[in-house]
Amino acid sequence: MKKVLVIYYTQSGQLNEAVRATLAPFENSADVSIHYENIKPVIPFPFPWRYMEFCEVFPETVTGVTCELHPFSFNADENYDLIIIAYQSWFLSISIPINSFLKTEEAKKVMKNKPVVTIIACRSMWLKSQEKIKIHLKEIKANLVGNITFVDRAPNLISIVTVLAFVLSGERGKFLGIFPKYGVSEEDLKEAPKYGEIVLKHLKTGAYSDQQKELLDAGAVHIKSNLMLLEGRGSAMFPIYAGFILKKGNSGDSNRRGRVRSFGILLPIGMLILSPIITIVSRMAPLFASKKIKSEMEYYSQNSLRE
Ligand SMILES: Cc1cc2nc3c(=O)[nH]c(=O)nc-3n(C[C@H](O)[C@H](O)[C@H](O)COP(=O)(O)O)c2cc1C
Repeated sequence: MKKVLVIYYTQSGQLNEAVRATLAPFENSADVSIHYENIKPVIPFPFPWRYMEFCEVFPETVTGVTCELHPFSFNADENYDLIIIAYQSWFLSISIPINSFLKTEEAKKVMKNKPVVTIIACRSMWLKSQEKIKIHLKEIKANLVGNITFVDRAPNLISIVTVLAFVLSGERGKFLGIFPKYGVSEEDLKEAPKYGEIVLKHLKTGAYSDQQKELLDAGAVHIKSNLMLLEGRGSAMFPIYAGFILKKGNSGDSNRRGRVRSFGILLPIGMLILSPIITIVSRMAPLFASKKIKSEMEYYSQNSLRE
């Protein structure tokens, strides 16, 4: 019997849908047992969010401040054959609940020397959060052997509008009747069991060296060059602005409200201005930096950390 531990957190259920669709082949396999661990913060994050609440978590998310979690139902001494970490990006970082899990003693214990597969369901910008996952896993001596991503396929400017409409209203319908529905599409969920089959095959043999290549060939990883460039800009600027806010106080401190508010104004303006510029640059970039872009996309498609 192969034992699998699935760690996940979801607000709307979107991530859970992606996980269940991916792991459908596991459920049908008699020689696999799965323990699902739903990570629960002691003080739940709001959903839907008010815009200020959404901006308020920015500094702590980016700088990796943890939150308190309810006790886990899995046994950290259990010898799992595979750990699956299913998470969403928040502000180009790991969402606070999953980041908090990764920093617990239980996570360190249960994941040490174990193969780990990540399943990400987010808007479309996950490259830098996955780099943080790689760093964490390296620190706790776990082996990242696979990554599967589910993203919103709409153009960047459209999904910026629809993700905000979604997290601020809690509704995933067509915003204003004209925008496409936010999130992971039904079509992409239909593809998910294919990725699960690949992971299941490797779980059964215990040999994972070809797994990520097979996942890539099956279309399990979504990277766009314009978003890669945009994430590069964002991830350079976010820690600076997070530090600027934190200088005025920690979460909930009214002294930092002005700076959080200014972030709330600058974020959409920055995205709306930078996004089209970077899209044009990324369209032209193959003319002068095609090798660099290709090698960066290859880097983010695989699971090891840059030297
Ligand atoms: C505070 C916050 C920040 C977010 N930042 C990002 C981001 O940087 N990149 C991204 O692709 N999606 C981002 N999203 C969208 C989430 O990754 C995810 O798609 C959405 O929250 C739904 O996930 P869930 O309901 O399964 O938790 C963010 C969402 C929230 C609430």
